[in-house]
Amino acid sequence: MKIGELLGIGNTARVYRWGKTEVIKLFYDQNYAVMEAKNAELINSLMLRAPKYGGLVDYEGKKGLIYERIDGPTMLWNIEPSEESMFYNARLMANLQYEIHQVKNKLLPNLKPEITHKINHSQEISNHDKQTITDILASLPDGNSICHYDFHPDNIIMSPNGPIIIDWLNLLVGNPEADVTRTSMMIQSDSLPPNAPDWLMHRESRVLFNKEYVSEYIRLTGMNDEFLEEWMIPTLAVRIDEMQGEYRQEIIDKLQTRLKKQDEVDEGN
Ligand SMILES: Nc1ncnc2c1ncn2[C@@H]1O[C@H](COP(=O)(O)OP(=O)(O)OP(=O)(O)O)[C@@H](O)[C@H]1O
Ligand SMILES: [Mg+2]
Repeated sequence: MKIGELLGIGNTARVYRWGKTEVIKLFYDQNYAVMEAKNAELINSLMLRAPKYGGLVDYEGKKGLIYERIDGPTMLWNIEPSEESMFYNARLMANLQYEIHQVKNKLLPNLKPEITHKINHSQEISNHDKQTITDILASLPDGNSICHYDFHPDNIIMSPNGPIIIDWLNLLVGNPEADVTRTSMMIQSDSLPPNAPDWLMHRESRVLFNKEYVSEYIRLTGMNDEFLEEWMIPTLAVRIDEMQGEYRQEIIDKLQTRLKKQDEVDEGN
């Protein structure tokens, strides 16, 4: 099969046309290719809005994942600079994520152990803070839901057949609260994709988008919003090593502000 036009450049891979109906995702880091291939097989076997997975191939010495090609802009690029469009898409995003969370997996939950492991191996977090963060994490609920854990508007393709979710590299099984907190944290961050659309540049727009997204998720589930602050400390902690430069610092600062408050509470007890 001949490789075709470049369709997208992500942080972990480049995606090209592959034959008439497929794409090939070529990873920069080969370990990630194997990880995503494992997840893609699982996702293929579940009833989810995801591209069909066609297998792992070797292409010029690199591992490539073959997926069904999904035509259409991602939600990020489909949002128009109006409150109406922003709110509509924020609610749609909450509904799509809620739908994913209704899919349960029989495998052991792995979200809490995975993120505990990442936090414990971070070079940016002191031992004292690691203890505080992993104690908080241990007290939070487990779950058996499929969690995408990188669920944001640029990982949803608005195809003629409806929204399709891509990029399942971070797939975890756990409590939906963790997944919603992760999405909310990402939306509020100042770190934007390259050449981001104009509306996204305004922090107030991101705040509004996040508010609408969270309210809709809460409306769907009947949860109250306390879980967001409860999960935010471990969620920020696990994000640090994924970011670089000023955006890493933004996450560290947000985490430190919360840890300071937590220490004051602990000292008061
Ligand atoms: N199945 C597909 N069909 C069509 N285009 C796709 C498909 N999968 C990915 N793409 C395009 O390639 C881009 C990058 O894909 P993807 O999000 O999977 O990569 P990534 O490197 O994991 O991204 P990120 O930067 O979010 O980590 C997407 O934004 C989209 O434009
Ligand atoms: Mg992506």
